[in-house]
Parts: sequence; structure tokens; C-alpha cells
Amino acid sequence: MTRLLEARNLRVEFTTPDGVVVAVNDLDFSLNSGETLGIVGESGSGKSQTAFAIMGLLARNGHTQGSIRFEGQEILTLTEPALNKIRAKQIAMIFQDPMTSLNPYMKVGPQLMEVLMLHKGISRQQAFEQSVQMLDAVQIPEARQRMGMFPHELSGGMRQRVMIAMALLCRPKLLIADEPTTALDVTVQAQIMSLLNELKREFNTATILITHDLGVVAGSCDQVLVMYAGRAMEVGAVDDIFYRPSHPYTEGLLKAIPRLDTDGEVLPTIAGNPPNLLKMPPGCPFQERCHRVHDICLSVSPPLIAFGEGRRRACHWNSPEQYKDNSHER
Ligand SMILES: Nc1ncnc2c1ncn2[C@@H]1O[C@H](COP(=O)(O)OP(=O)(O)OP(=O)(O)O)[C@@H](O)[C@H]1O
Ligand SMILES: [Mg+2]
Repeated sequence: MTRLLEARNLRVEFTTPDGVVVAVNDLDFSLNSGETLGIVGESGSGKSQTAFAIMGLLARNGHTQGSIRFEGQEILTLTEPALNKIRAKQIAMIFQDPMTSLNPYMKVGPQLMEVLMLHKGISRQQAFEQSVQMLDAVQIPEARQRMGMFPHELSGGMRQRVMIAMALLCRPKLLIADEPTTALDVTVQAQIMSLLNELKREFNTATILITHDLGVVAGSCDQVLVMYAGRAMEVGAVDDIFYRPSHPYTEGLLKAIPRLDTDGEVLPTIAGNPPNLLKMPPGCPFQERCHRVHDICLSVSPPLIAFGEGRRRACHWNSPEQYKDNSHER
């Protein structure tokens, strides 16, 4: 069966005056129709650039290598007009900042209608009715009246719903949601996540959910890709990642999730910062912050190795016993 999306050896580099930044390094992942993949990692780990590579929206100094196939078709080498046909209609994205997609000077209605008229070639009247229906679907009250409002007249949560409506208007097969709830307060975050889950089921849309918060992927994803410094550290089914993490970085992210039964306690964080992508150390990118670091980690970059069903990890550590003698665990 052809996968909906298949990325192989994906690499994203940026040429800068200080050298080449490898923002995404040798990434492999795939997605079937209706599935949800969570991409998790700290700030700067390459999550958004992975999404931009799929959308063909990298900054001018960015270059891609490797392959991304959508329904079997290579999309990394497509021309701009060919990519435009795929964007919005087949693959749509909700950006990290809602105001990136919404024009502040244009009322919400015409912005939605424009997408439909451009991509589906339907009449103004049909576009108006379908836009209202989609605002209803994302649970915006008084959808008809909201069509005549400017983005700044809506709350942050409402703006995010408009963004989701806009992304789903052409019924894409793949939706990429980049931190769809970061700018919102916790209650609205929960509402938006449950809305995304409902819509995914209703429209059978495959989704890539990008977040720095492992807690968010728990109720929404089938598979999880944990990224660090542009690389995959661990890939697996959501339950495996949560209940049987196999990478020290994943363990650290899990410990940092707020829990209801630890009210008032200070959450452990992973000490230190991600490495400078311009001066990557040899060996494992996580070595400086890893509590299971061993000699080999300082010189040999761990390959991503498959183990168990559908699981992969890039770590030299197998079990604490194995490295008892030469370990300098922190
Ligand atoms: N145009 C560019 N030129 C040089 N480096 C860039 C450029 N765009 C992004 N980068 C670098 O690529 C790396 C990955 O960025 P990316 O936006 O994918 O991070 P992210 O995981 O989405 O982080 P966040 O959670 O903060 O959104 C970062 O170190 C960033 O500085
Ligand atoms: Mg980002």
C-alpha cells in the first residue's frame, strides 16, 4: 500500500554567514491516511523546518536533500506551480503564529472565501455558504456574523479556530498543525485539541501535530517522533513512548510533563541547553545533557536502529548494567 506521506533521509540546511546550519538531519518518517504523527522536541530541534520542507516553504537560504513522497509522488523537486496545486488542496498547514496566515486588514469571511474560489473555482455565493459551514464545524458561534469581522476583533482562541477552518476548507488529506495551541491559555488549549481530534475523525485527515509538549500528544497521536538538534532520537507508537521510553531525552521530556498528583512540586527540567547547530560536537548530539552518557557517546553518533514493533531509537545505552564499568553517569 502506498503511504500518504513518506520522508526518507530528509535533510534541511541553511547557508548563513557563519557557516552551514543543519536544521534537519537524516530524518525518516511516514504516515498513512487518517493517522496522526506527533513531532516533539525542544525549541530549535527542527520541528517547524521539517514541516516547511514538506510544504516547500523554507526560507531562501534553505536547501533540502533526500526525499518526501506524497501519495507516491516526489514533492521535494516539484516546481512552484505544481506545489501550489498540492498546497491547501491536499496538504494544509496551521502555522505557529495565527497572524502569519490571517491578513489583519481583511475581514475573516473574504479570506476564507478566497481560498475556496482560488482552489475549487466555485462561485462567491457557494464560497460564502461553505465558509460559514466550516466556521460552524470549528464551533465558532454566530458564524455568519463573524464572517464580517476583522481578525483583531476575535479572541486568540477564535482566531485559531478560523485558522483551522481555513486549513480544512479544501478538505486536505494531510494537515500539519505547528504548535496549534501554544499561544492560548490552558482551557482554550484543551478545547482546540479536542476540536482537532473531532475534525480529524470527521474528515479522516492525516495529521502531523508539532509540539514541544509531550503531554499534548498523549490523547491525539498514533506515532511519535522525538527530535533533538535536527535528528530523530526516538520513534514509536504513542503508548511505547509514554510507558516504555527508550531514550534518555524522551525520559527527560516525560519527567517535565505536569501531573495532577504532583501539585505544587517544581517540575524537573533537562539541565543545560541544546547544542549550537553551527558547532556540533562529534558523537551524540545529546551527550552534554545526558545522564546516561558513556565514552562512546562522545565520539560515535548513535545510528537510529529499529527494535521491537515499529520502534526506532538512536542511543548507545542499552541497559545501565551493560556500561557499568566505563559509565560516568551524571
Ligand atoms: N533561515 C534560517 N537560517 C538559518 N538558520 C535557521 C533558519 N531558519 C531556521 N533556522 C534554524 O533551524 C533550527 C531549527 O528551527 P525550527 O524552526 O525547525 O525549530 P523548532 O523545533 O520549530 O523550534 P520552536 O519550538 O522554537 O518552534 C533552529 O536552530 C533555527 O535557528
Ligand atoms: Mg517551530
